[in-house]
Amino acid sequence: MAIILDGKKLREKILEQLKIKIDGFYRKPSLVVILAGDNPASKIYVNNKKKVADRIGINSQIINYPSNVSEEELLNKIKELNEDSGVDAILVQLPLPDGISKENIINAISPEKDVDGFTPYNFGRLFSGEEPNVYPCTPKGVLLLLKEYNIELEGKHAVVIGRSNIVGKPMAQMLLNNNATVTVCHSYTKDLAQILKTADIVVSAVGKNIVNGDMLKQGCVVVDVGIFKDENGKTRGDVDFDSASKNAAYISPVPGGVGPMTITSLMLNTVELYEKG
Ligand code: GUN
Repeated sequence: MAIILDGKKLREKILEQLKIKIDGFYRKPSLVVILAGDNPASKIYVNNKKKVADRIGINSQIINYPSNVSEEELLNKIKELNEDSGVDAILVQLPLPDGISKENIINAISPEKDVDGFTPYNFGRLFSGEEPNVYPCTPKGVLLLLKEYNIELEGKHAVVIGRSNIVGKPMAQMLLNNNATVTVCHSYTKDLAQILKTADIVVSAVGKNIVNGDMLKQGCVVVDVGIFKDENGKTRGDVDFDSASKNAAYISPVPGGVGPMTITSLMLNTVELYEKG
């Protein structure tokens, strides 16, 4: 049976250290989250972020906008936050309502306050192998989790399923920067199972049930980034946990694996931006 990659446990360990560090600062780091529209999952994510921030002494604020907010109004708010020296970190929760250009909004965030690492400056630096101000939260959380369990990346075949800007692309690049051999699979990939059979490390970030134990190489490492509710309302990941944990050496559960690590990375990134400030 596989060893569980316990994101909750690592979250607690990191947050404890981070709280001590923040207690020593002369002012609280500040994170502003912009939430536009009423996507139910986004509301839960954003409230969870605030809860954790408050717990460790990060000053956090959620600014809510209705789904009919104009792009101009959001751009004006971002400009105001960019110029506010009391704000260290800005996060615009995605997805944005229809009709608003995600690119225009992200491009407006100052790279020094871009806590997701999504602006062209930070993304560009990541992809050119230079240090961005911060690394995107979910892939950063995955790498922290792998590091905690001493899982080597160098020379390993890592297969990333999904090519989103939030997870798949930065994840692949960060694995590459750590000297893994990386394959990126997506909805047009032919014979996913055959590719997965050669994977030492699998990171799945799709949001639907796509991986089962038969597809996996014995002794591989499985990181499940996907999270969704199945037809019975049960929270599930991309990977069929029971069958996969028979073949894998390590596996992250859903919930309790990558989710807590994403929030932990957000807290780490907020503090990093504060310190760079
Ligand atoms: N929506 C889902 N994940 C994320 C994330 O990591 N950052 C932002 N801004 N929005 C998200």
